[in-house]
Amino acid sequence: MEVMVVNLLHKGKIGLAPMEGVIDALTRDLLTRQPGFDWTVTEFVRVVDTRLPPRVFYKHCPELQQRPVATPSGIPVHLQLLGSDPSALAKNARQALALGAISVDLNFGCPAKLVNRHDGGASLLRQPERVYQAVRAVADALAGEIPVTAKIRLGFANRRLAVTCAQATQAGGAARLVVHGRTRDEGYRPPAHWEWIGRVRHHVDIPVVANGDIWTLEDYWKARTLSGCRDVMLGRSALADPWLAPRIRHWQETGERLPETTWAMRASVLQEYAEHQRQQLPDRVVVSLVKQWLAQMRQGNAEAEQHFQRLKRVTDLDILLDSLVP
Ligand SMILES: Cc1cc2nc3c(=O)[nH]c(=O)nc-3n(C[C@H](O)[C@H](O)[C@H](O)COP(=O)(O)O)c2cc1C
Repeated sequence: MEVMVVNLLHKGKIGLAPMEGVIDALTRDLLTRQPGFDWTVTEFVRVVDTRLPPRVFYKHCPELQQRPVATPSGIPVHLQLLGSDPSALAKNARQALALGAISVDLNFGCPAKLVNRHDGGASLLRQPERVYQAVRAVADALAGEIPVTAKIRLGFANRRLAVTCAQATQAGGAARLVVHGRTRDEGYRPPAHWEWIGRVRHHVDIPVVANGDIWTLEDYWKARTLSGCRDVMLGRSALADPWLAPRIRHWQETGERLPETTWAMRASVLQEYAEHQRQQLPDRVVVSLVKQWLAQMRQGNAEAEQHFQRLKRVTDLDILLDSLVP
């Protein structure tokens, strides 16, 4: 039985999660240079009531300006919209299609107070009918030319409507559903409820992707086993350990575990990130971006924590870069 489970775990795709203000085109590029991720998703494009101009789409998804719409290493980039007005979402989905988007993902998971106050993100999970209407409007607008997909949490304040919301995305025409295994009120507090993702998966026919708190290869096995999902999505852990997806992929292909990611490997990613960013942003902004990524790397890694403590007060970019590897 155990052998069978392990064999099944050898297959399965890995998505790079959308992360607003954190995972942009450059980060997508850096994180997909090694084999590991199968698809990526942009930060959300906020839709209110109008059709947004192309420049907004290009800002969130510069990859739309080339074909295929993919990272330089060829990993597909999917465009995410966040909004609640079905007709505005439909207009913007048509715009995305006209600009060459390969799919439109709808965000029903954002916990931000501002977004929720304006009736977007996770707030719709309180009214599955509105989830349905949003997905349906976009599916109709895209008319089968490209797929619509959705991303939800397990609910807003509780999990009572988790299955109903998932079913609403399917009924609306979603081709795939990512489930972040927490409610909106749980924020990012561990644990992510992988078994609940499994419960949701049992009640829909579309592929369900498990998301939340997959930090290690062991977490990957556990999340897959408890959720029963074939595919997973990694967010913060991809930043914490840029070699996590490659480690999972390598294990899937060879059954072997790659060595742990060293500080030198992490530092090399930060160096490269900074060198690219400084070509377009002021040094002080790049310093805070590098520190933001370094802060993400501390999760579960004592060495990165030590380096963060050592570097957190450096304000000069050159000094920061020179000091990354002591
Ligand atoms: C800083 C930050 C920004 C995020 N931005 C988005 C977003 O734009 N769209 C979205 O659907 N989810 C967003 N998320 C949620 C992640 O995609 C993911 O569902 C969540 O972090 C749980 O996965 P993880 O434990 O692997 O990070 C964001 C999360 C964080 C921490």
